[in-house]
Amino acid sequence: MCGIVGYVGEKQALEVVVAGLRRLEYRGYDSAGVAVISEGRLEVRKKAGKLANLETLLGQDPLPQSTTGIGHTRWATHGGPTDHNAHPHVSEDGRVAVIHNGIIENFAALRAELTESGVQLSSETDTEVVAHLLARALPDVAGDLPRAMQAVCHRLEGAFTLVAMDPNDPTLVVGARRNSPLVVGLGEGENFLASDVAAFVEHTRNALELGQDQIVIVRADGVEVTDFSGNAVEAAPFSIDWDASAAEKGGYDLFMLKEIAEQPKAVADALRGRINAEHRIQLDEANLDDAVLRDITKVVVIACGTAAHAGMVAKYAIEHWTRLPVDVELASEFRYRDPIVGPDSLVIAISQSGETMDTLMALRHAKAQGARTLAICNTVGSTIPRESDAVVYTYAGPEIAVASTKAFLTQIVAAYLVGLYLAQARGTMFEDEIRGILADLADMPQKVDLVLDTVEPVRALAQEFANATSVLFLGRHVGYPVALEGALKLKELAYMHAEGFPAGELKHGPIALIEDGVPVIVVVPSPRGRAVLHDKIVSNIQEVRARGAVVIAIAEEGDESIVPFADHIIRVPETPTLMQPLVSTVPLQVFACELATVKGHDVDQPRNLAKSVTVE
Ligand code: M6R
Repeated sequence: MCGIVGYVGEKQALEVVVAGLRRLEYRGYDSAGVAVISEGRLEVRKKAGKLANLETLLGQDPLPQSTTGIGHTRWATHGGPTDHNAHPHVSEDGRVAVIHNGIIENFAALRAELTESGVQLSSETDTEVVAHLLARALPDVAGDLPRAMQAVCHRLEGAFTLVAMDPNDPTLVVGARRNSPLVVGLGEGENFLASDVAAFVEHTRNALELGQDQIVIVRADGVEVTDFSGNAVEAAPFSIDWDASAAEKGGYDLFMLKEIAEQPKAVADALRGRINAEHRIQLDEANLDDAVLRDITKVVVIACGTAAHAGMVAKYAIEHWTRLPVDVELASEFRYRDPIVGPDSLVIAISQSGETMDTLMALRHAKAQGARTLAICNTVGSTIPRESDAVVYTYAGPEIAVASTKAFLTQIVAAYLVGLYLAQARGTMFEDEIRGILADLADMPQKVDLVLDTVEPVRALAQEFANATSVLFLGRHVGYPVALEGALKLKELAYMHAEGFPAGELKHGPIALIEDGVPVIVVVPSPRGRAVLHDKIVSNIQEVRARGAVVIAIAEEGDESIVPFADHIIRVPETPTLMQPLVSTVPLQVFACELATVKGHDVDQPRNLAKSVTVE
């Protein structure tokens, strides 16, 4: 939520900052704003709506030249998406400009204190209080912005990344972080601050991770990191292993289309280097201790949204392979219900961004109970892997579209590797069984590619159902989380009522939703897997069809038994049952993307959403 960019160097700050905001717009797009320092003064422009609105404003009312600047793209929490609630916020005396990501939980008390002492607040945001507090702290610390930031951070509760500037020190940008992301880009004669490396990867691939409760003092010729008390701390350097072109559309109209098309490569990358010459799984970078893994008695997956669906898929596989019970918990519920985890539990946090606040807080809760923690994450150096005992990266490359696609497939692959690693360490499977599954996984990039080659009829179907008021998704076994994922994609992109159900549950209530013409998309299990699952779903199809539903079956090539029962059939390659989610999800992604396009929606930036949800 919210994208933040700061720059100090020799280039025109405005150009660097706006280009950075363009790459961070996926984080929030309710309003955008920039500030630069020129001739000892702050100059600010901000506008409600997408970045394009700010760019129009900057065309009409240009900013002066400057080599120091900050910028923000907002996902509104406190105060609506208006011009005056847009960041940066400036103190009454015009001395400090600040941008913020997160929620300052004690803002009401701070606001009351400021109002009582005569400050006129000009927005409804929690952020504005920080600008006034910084301005008030400066005289006590001889005008030193980093020290003022230390003093103010001690007074704030909640989650915040803050970046501030003071025209009295025009070559300085100061950042601070607690529970929200902030990374530093290290250039030659220039340095950057941003919520995500995408903002500066076109300028430098050298970066620094900031830890919890740290302040960073950024000038063109150097960067210093301290804690909130001003003690110097070492920040961990890392290099970005992808280049700016990976975060471009690369000839596609939409990031989502590009990311759907990248899935065969993403799955291959998630597997690369993880199976050794003896056909054993090696997760060297994961830091997994086999002795610890042998002692655990349960696995708990914590995640949100699409990542939780990946966890639900993995549950079927990990329980089958390891005979360990696997609970999948929505992270937002986990820590508020006194969950039973301890030193004998392996808690797996799945997150594309590595910054999702609900997942991070659940992870911290699990750690506090003594659980062993492992992150499955796409974003190298982000908070969730940094705070976990072990990490398995998904290596999907940057995912920019708000709707998750390649992250989902690679989360499943990574969770399967963890499951097989557990089975290997605990000896619950024969080595040739593991080898067989690894061979199935190795076939998946090619099979996903085949789905993409044959997915065209899905687009025509999406157009046919563009006026449907509701779409239901049914699945059984691993097809159930796929049904949930298909429904989530449709909700978030097409803004349609969509629900996923376990097919067997339908008759316990939801079947009342079926009426003439309701589209029901059914993820059909392989008839070569457990025949009973296939037979049962055929019965469920007949139940809905008898009540007027139009059935679209996602069925395996060669499954002719489904033909008499479906109105439309989308074919996917023959695949072992546990691998099916990797192929059957893809048509559902395309369906939602196409339907949203037909409706004229902004597919990459759906309304009300943000890619990285850094508030609880
Ligand atoms: O970054 P995370 O994987 O932790 O994000 C979790 C969810 O917010 C995310 O999967 C969300 O549900 C997707 N936008 C859905 O497409």
